[in-house]
Amino acid sequence: MEKLRHMMNPLDFSVEELESLFDLAGEIERDMEGYSHKCDGKILATCFYEPSTRTRLSFETAMLRLGGKCMGFADASNSSAAKGESVADTIRVISCFADICAMRHPKEGAPMVAASKSSIPVINAGDGGHQHPTQTLTDLLTIRSLYGKLSNFTIGLCGDLKFGRTVHSLINALSRYEGIRFIFISPKELRVPDYITEMLRQKGIPYEEVIKLEDIMPQLDFLYMTRVQKERFFNEEDYIRLRNFYILDKEKMALAKENMFILHPLPRVNEISVELDDDPRAAYFKQVQYGLYVRMALILTLLNIK
Ligand code: NCD
Repeated sequence: MEKLRHMMNPLDFSVEELESLFDLAGEIERDMEGYSHKCDGKILATCFYEPSTRTRLSFETAMLRLGGKCMGFADASNSSAAKGESVADTIRVISCFADICAMRHPKEGAPMVAASKSSIPVINAGDGGHQHPTQTLTDLLTIRSLYGKLSNFTIGLCGDLKFGRTVHSLINALSRYEGIRFIFISPKELRVPDYITEMLRQKGIPYEEVIKLEDIMPQLDFLYMTRVQKERFFNEEDYIRLRNFYILDKEKMALAKENMFILHPLPRVNEISVELDDDPRAAYFKQVQYGLYVRMALILTLLNIK
């Protein structure tokens, strides 16, 4: 029997395994129809203890496009969690019903606890401010598709670098590729956590921390914008003070390279002006499309379906 595999962190897959995953996502993009029965008879459970639009619907669409079915909950207040059931017990139950589970949870590490008790593959669909591996797979596939490779570029990450799990996951994943330079753009209250800069220092990966977006704009090949994570703030006042710190608009984009791409995991609040949506460099909706292909590829890979 094949070993049970989960996806908790983008580093759970080697760089070579990620290459195969992205190749498979590329094949799916070219031939959706050819994959439309690969998961006939399979069931995906989505257990979402935190709000989501894209991630949950993207997982469900991925399974439906593969011919499988979906069940689960989008609101933990409707599940037995409201009665006090533990994640460990819930996943044991889900393991009796479904073939694979995507779980989002406000507590860091909850999907790992689930994985340790599960008899089906568990995918971390975001755990608190910690990791969001499938968003990272989406981001990597988008970069690879737009830029042709996952090496030798300068990426600016802007906004809430403290609480943004997509940022933490992406930096982690990119730290394994050659020639990446990071520029972190945030107010000082929302700087990237020390454990991440420490990891970069140890690996000798160049990074810079700045406050003003305009200053470094011309250097960037990618600009990864993020939302200020309201739900992870301890007080409303700080959130209100910081929420509109960065607003990317036409004026700032005039400073960027002709071929710099704007990425955003979405949802967007105010940090990218809608006037940029038609700019050919705005890649955030394309990113959503890549997220579907890569989740289809991940489901097939974790279920060992060729
Ligand atoms: C992100 C998340 O949930 O961390 N959204 C997503 O899954 N694409 C980003 C965010 O909520 O800001």
